[in-house]
Amino acid sequence: MPAVIEIKDLTKTYDNITAVNKLNLEIGESEIFGFLGPNGAGKTTAILMLLGLTEPTSGTVSICGFNATREPLQVKRITGYVPEKVGFYEDLTVHYNLLYTAWLNNIPEQQIEDRIKTALKTVGLPNAANRKVQQLSHGMKQRLAIADVLVKNPRIVILDEPTSGIDPEGVVQLLELIRKIAQEQGMTVILSSHQLPQVQRICTRVGILSKGKMIAEGPLDQLGRKAFGGSEFRVEVQVSEVTSIIIDAIKSISGVTSTEALGKDIIVNCERDLRPQIAKAVIDNNGQLIQMKIQSYSLEDIYLKYSGEV
Ligand SMILES: Nc1ncnc2c1ncn2[C@@H]1O[C@H](COP(=O)(O)OP(=O)(O)O)[C@@H](O)[C@H]1O
Ligand SMILES: [Mg+2]
Repeated sequence: MPAVIEIKDLTKTYDNITAVNKLNLEIGESEIFGFLGPNGAGKTTAILMLLGLTEPTSGTVSICGFNATREPLQVKRITGYVPEKVGFYEDLTVHYNLLYTAWLNNIPEQQIEDRIKTALKTVGLPNAANRKVQQLSHGMKQRLAIADVLVKNPRIVILDEPTSGIDPEGVVQLLELIRKIAQEQGMTVILSSHQLPQVQRICTRVGILSKGKMIAEGPLDQLGRKAFGGSEFRVEVQVSEVTSIIIDAIKSISGVTSTEALGKDIIVNCERDLRPQIAKAVIDNNGQLIQMKIQSYSLEDIYLKYSGEV
């Protein structure tokens, strides 16, 4: 898959802080990339450099072959940006705001009305055209911001913390909308967030940024395996008596990566849910199984594990 976005050694230093520190990343066509990290990690700074809105201290960004620093206009033409704080002319109508965007982006006059109508329909605001922006809820304004980007019909959409300030139900709907648009229109999407469980739902790949550094990057399932030394599940097995025969039997199950005895508990790390096999190993070796609990590592565990290492 050819890279649509190529970031090489991207660095931004403000006075005495390095907000983004030698960031390297490639994002392919039609990916939904989740840019994760706590507040202050450097996500917004990186995004501004991708868009050519802030000049890097060093390093380069290439967007569809255009250099974001030297060719910002070309980059702007093919990229849609939803900033953290979306801004509209509040006392003007939704329609007028989108019209303004269309004019700014030189959309051919005869296409404008169609594009506005389609964009509003896509984001679920088909009847909002004549309402003033100030009458819209925060969630509706977020949708309008996406409609605003769609009017441009960009190849790449970058959304900075699109879910902040939205209630949980609204978040689910907004993310589903982003996924649907990305899929149907074949757009490449970058989504930044400090709220990990949310991003997990729609991203094909994530990068975790901490103090300006990309500390982990890859598809979620692989990040999980790497973070926990090859295991994704942790099973706590409580038996009436822990014996070395039982431990050995569990260790020999294919897919078990490690075991640890803690009092009457045996902690088993494994690649899959191996509860039936573990239960059998206990019983076949004259053990009495009291209970078993399974935990799978969430993105949050992964995130904490990685960010703790910096
Ligand atoms: N214009 C600026 N001047 C000085 N420091 C800045 C500026 N913008 C961001 N920073 C600092 O850079 C770091 C990264 O900020 P930011 O990119 O906004 O992080 P995030 O978006 O992940 O919350 C923070 O320490 C922030 O205070
Ligand atoms: Mg930010």
